Amino acid sequence: MVSRAAITNVRVQADRLWSSMMRLAEIGATARGGVCRLALTDLDRVARDQFLSWVRELGCEISIDTIGNIVARRPGADPARLPVMTGSHLDTQPTGGKFDGVYGVMAGLEVMRTLNDKGIRTAAPLELVVWTNEEGTRFSPIMMGSGVFTGQLSLDDMLKKQDRDGVSVQSALAAIGYDGKRNPGHPVGAYFEAHIEQGPILENEGISIGVVTGAMGQRWYDIEVIGLESHAGTTPMDSRRDALLAASRLTVRVNEIALEKGGNTRSTVGYMDVHPNSRNSIPGRVHLTVEFRGPEENMLAAMEQELNQACDRYSEPGKLDFSIRRVADIKPQPFFPPLVDVVRNAAQELSYTHMEILSGAGHDAVYMAKAGPAAMIFVPCKDGLSHNELEDAKKEDLEAGTNVLLRSMLCAAEMLE
Ligand code: GLV
Ligand code: MN
Ligand code: MN
Repeated sequence: MVSRAAITNVRVQADRLWSSMMRLAEIGATARGGVCRLALTDLDRVARDQFLSWVRELGCEISIDTIGNIVARRPGADPARLPVMTGSHLDTQPTGGKFDGVYGVMAGLEVMRTLNDKGIRTAAPLELVVWTNEEGTRFSPIMMGSGVFTGQLSLDDMLKKQDRDGVSVQSALAAIGYDGKRNPGHPVGAYFEAHIEQGPILENEGISIGVVTGAMGQRWYDIEVIGLESHAGTTPMDSRRDALLAASRLTVRVNEIALEKGGNTRSTVGYMDVHPNSRNSIPGRVHLTVEFRGPEENMLAAMEQELNQACDRYSEPGKLDFSIRRVADIKPQPFFPPLVDVVRNAAQELSYTHMEILSGAGHDAVYMAKAGPAAMIFVPCKDGLSHNELEDAKKEDLEAGTNVLLRSMLCAAEMLE
């Protein structure tokens, strides 16, 4: 049993947390100060290997499951208790930063290091997890490892997913040696995830801790527009079947859909692949992605209807074909109120300024919340910028979020039967 005094007095080491984060930022560092470390690439392997060497030093038991999630377990005094888990992801966007994902993993590592330093044994075991492919950039969908862990995504289907070069998740896992043996998924008593906010609210309000009450839902689509490639000089303007022109009209419309709907909805076209991409051929085929986000399921359904109508309109029957495939459908997800209270109380007791906040980003905590109690802790990031090489955060905010994580985990590890 951890004493009340230990929970009250123990604090993390900000410099050690920062230096571990900066070590990981070297793996896939870009010239503009960011990180490119796509899921299941060799760089992802190097980051995972570094993580393993750190948790081995702490004496953790390590397991790797068949979708490549790594779980490092710090045993508790009472093996009958369910683990209190924390973690996040080490993969990044192509022009990603040093903080998205890495912070949650390094905050969890710093919690375990602090407890080891102080010789604190919790009643419940603690687990630190690195989820596979949270970003959904190289392999879609997003939050793959936690989706499989919680039974929301099928392992077999996910192992077959391919990147744009036709490499499957299964073969990428094997290529980096992270095709583990354990079956994904085990009961978890409480899951906490620390993350930078990735938006401007906390910074604008001058507040250190976001007590996250839930996350928006998202729907992702792959759209193929088929026209006809033909000569740019000889094909009259009124008889062209220009797939890029139709895709561009759709892009404008997608932007309008969230603007018109309001209510904190978002709509984005983030990827376009144009065929044959030659300046004097009319584009015959375009692959584009659309994603919608919003706090309510009915908003997402209405946005999808608008998307279908727009595709019908721009297909100009007989001229162009649109095929629409929904590739992710994640419902809006509230976090577990008693655990949200644990986070709020921890921030309060530590005298950090705090406010409730809703996440517009996807996080592994969202899938964890569908399967059991989960909550999140946000800290501010500079200019609200994320998914950008210039992503930045202050050491003292990262420290505050990690102290809140430490205290929340200690509370949960003592409370849970
Ligand atoms: C996660 O990176 C997201 O796109 O929300
Ligand atoms: Mn993230
Ligand atoms: Mn991200």
